[in-house]
Amino acid sequence: MKRVSGWALACAMVAAGATAALAQSAPAVTAQAARVTPVAGGVEVRRGAAVMRVVALTDAILRVRIAPDGRFPEDASWAVDAATRAKHATVTAAPDGFATAALRVHVDARSGALAVTDPQGRVISQDAARPLALDGTAFTVAKRLPLTEHIFGLGDKTGGALDRRGMSYVDWNTDAYGFSSSTDPIYKSIPFFLGVGGEGDSYGILFDNTYRAWFDFGHKDADTLTFGAPDGPIDYYIIAGPSTAEVVRRYTDLTGKAPLPPLWSLGYQQSRYSYMDDAELRGVAARLRSDRVPTDVLWLDIDFQDRNRPFTVNTQAFPDFARTIGDLKKDGFQTVTIADLHVAAAANQGYAPYDQGMAGHHFVRDASGQTYVGEVWPGPSVFPDFTDAAARKWYGTLFRSLTDAGVAGIWNDMNEPSVFKTPTATMPLDNIHHIAGDDFSPRDASHAEIHNVYGMENTRATYDGLLALRPDERPFVMTRASYAGGQRYSATWTGDNSATWDHLKLAIHQVINLGLSGFSWSANDVGGFTGGPSPELLTRWFEIATFMPIFRDHAAKDTPRAEPWVDGPEHLAIRRRFVEERYRLMPYLYALADDNARTGDPIMRPVFYDYPDAIHATCDQGMAFTLGRDLLVAPPPHPESPQTYDVCLPQGGWYDYWTGLAVTQGKADQGGGPVQAAAQTMMDAPAGGTNVTETPKLDRLPVFVRAGAIVPRQPLVQSTSEIPQGPLSIDVYPGPDCTGTLYADDGHSLDYRRGSFYRRAIRCTRDAQGLTISFTAADGRFVPWWKQIAVTVHGATASGTVTVDGRKLTSSFDAAGQRLSFQFDEQRGARDIVIAP
Ligand code: NOJ
Repeated sequence: MKRVSGWALACAMVAAGATAALAQSAPAVTAQAARVTPVAGGVEVRRGAAVMRVVALTDAILRVRIAPDGRFPEDASWAVDAATRAKHATVTAAPDGFATAALRVHVDARSGALAVTDPQGRVISQDAARPLALDGTAFTVAKRLPLTEHIFGLGDKTGGALDRRGMSYVDWNTDAYGFSSSTDPIYKSIPFFLGVGGEGDSYGILFDNTYRAWFDFGHKDADTLTFGAPDGPIDYYIIAGPSTAEVVRRYTDLTGKAPLPPLWSLGYQQSRYSYMDDAELRGVAARLRSDRVPTDVLWLDIDFQDRNRPFTVNTQAFPDFARTIGDLKKDGFQTVTIADLHVAAAANQGYAPYDQGMAGHHFVRDASGQTYVGEVWPGPSVFPDFTDAAARKWYGTLFRSLTDAGVAGIWNDMNEPSVFKTPTATMPLDNIHHIAGDDFSPRDASHAEIHNVYGMENTRATYDGLLALRPDERPFVMTRASYAGGQRYSATWTGDNSATWDHLKLAIHQVINLGLSGFSWSANDVGGFTGGPSPELLTRWFEIATFMPIFRDHAAKDTPRAEPWVDGPEHLAIRRRFVEERYRLMPYLYALADDNARTGDPIMRPVFYDYPDAIHATCDQGMAFTLGRDLLVAPPPHPESPQTYDVCLPQGGWYDYWTGLAVTQGKADQGGGPVQAAAQTMMDAPAGGTNVTETPKLDRLPVFVRAGAIVPRQPLVQSTSEIPQGPLSIDVYPGPDCTGTLYADDGHSLDYRRGSFYRRAIRCTRDAQGLTISFTAADGRFVPWWKQIAVTVHGATASGTVTVDGRKLTSSFDAAGQRLSFQFDEQRGARDIVIAP
């Protein structure tokens, strides 16, 4: 790769077809000044033949496109829809660029280099001294990487740490069976990363290019980050913060929010490659119930099919498939089946997916124009042309046999696409896909261009197909491969991990980085796919997965069993206790799901997401994360080690999740009555954070609750289809910014989009009267399952007088647990509860 100074210089060289003559021609071109002219929402910069357009879609999102030869490729994208790309913010012209309400865009008149600052002049993103290098159709964009900046995102890429600084990566969806923490590329390509901790704090870059892209975050040059691709458009978005949360929310404004998932997908999910027949599947279901491990979902892997052919059922193994699924449903289990994207090349055998697809010309072609055949699980297979809207629509209809049988969700696997017995593990780069639909002009495209979006378009066809078949049900799709924006159609998981402690740690980093990359709903194979977990590893994995977005136990063929009971009653008891905790926390989790669908805030987050100072934490935070803003989970940073470790709790005060006792030592005996005093302690929590020393114990996972959290919980159920018996509980942990949310709906339909939901905010405040807990009136018209609300106020050191809307309530006080509890009837109107000392 040749490197040159100034993007226009490099562009001019290529336009002249003169990369070899670079050195000789350079001085003449360098002399040209950049010409900056205003366009709607931004500027166009011309220098020689090259053109750069910088347009503000909103005050905080810029799109940058560069045409080295002055001709922009078609304005189309798989990640960002046309309406979003067509937006323009109101901008103010400046001599060297323009300004929005949140940003200043500067273009260097000499070199054309781009710098983006906040209105105070703090640098958000700035071109490196050599901002662009070209080599034929290949290009690399270079930006400065300040020493203080950390890099996150890029989906579930591996690496030894959460932070990607110092690493380099390639985006190329790859079936990475048995990957390790240094394998790259793996299954997904999410070309979006965040810089955190620079002068302007957090920002993100979405590099919207589907080719085999590359990224370098200070690996080659410590103070430079680069991204590029062998072909395709130079088209990227700079998304300003300043907070990490603002960047992620804006990224999901650009590429779409993950829709609200069905409630059952938040429950425990049991899988294996494979539950081979009806008896085995029913046996697993029965054992889960008799061992009282709450469970919502059972998964069927490829062996439920006839000869691994998608959209068939092995009727020897499952003689009455619909009945089995129906019986399981009555017992509170949903069934998710695999539907690999490939279609068996089974001509003249009455296999409709092949016959229909061939008749409709719905399969990918090889370079000679013939239907491409590659080998996968069913043997010779053909591959639907998912970038063609007609092929997607047809493919979606194939799910009818599964939905008719009562299958609840679909698992899209192998969609990198994986092809066996080829040197590249995928199809040839010169295979031909057809693009038709969206805002692309209809055309053929090479596999080199489509490879990284193929899996996402597979999930789109599945999602849309399920929605067409069941127009009022929320589709649940789980995919292995995807691209930026894939969260609109499916959840994901991290593929074929291993049963090692290292992979447990890696899974945390992967799921956090997926959440920062728009994929809030992601899983990892609990226990590890390959190998077999030790009892301790599986137990620890269960504990941690309890607080992760999707909780699915899955293992490969010919590995030891990994269901919760396999290691005897002591391990089962711990695993059950954690799964039960997840079910009790369901109202909190579901409120996070609602928030995520509206804002894009991840479910599982790095601690610095809500507590920015945590980026500077002195403890080893390698395994810590938050579930929403309020729960901080702090597993041992070296999960297999018995060594004590420190947890750095961010400032503001914390409670122990399991005991409900305040972690911060307060002024509990000082004046005003104990409840008030405890509340006062938390509300005036010290500026610095708290360090807690933990000694690893297998049956304990340290979890902390933010002082100021209001956490809803429910009585234990064995699946989310069961109606909880008893009151909704609300735990109030007094402290600063004391808030919580209640959210409920029917859990599965789209009625919530038409007003059938229940959402209300709860706040707590302290004043001269004591502690006041205020409920806003419930929004929406859904009637939730609870009739009573049971409140527990933590940090209380004596009973107080509790009144609800002026009416006195009976309360009970637990001195050892520092808890004050009371209960009242649910009603939708706004109400205030006052706890006077
Ligand atoms: C590969 C997937 O990653 C794995 O989870 C699945 O069990 C096998 N394919 C078989 O379908």
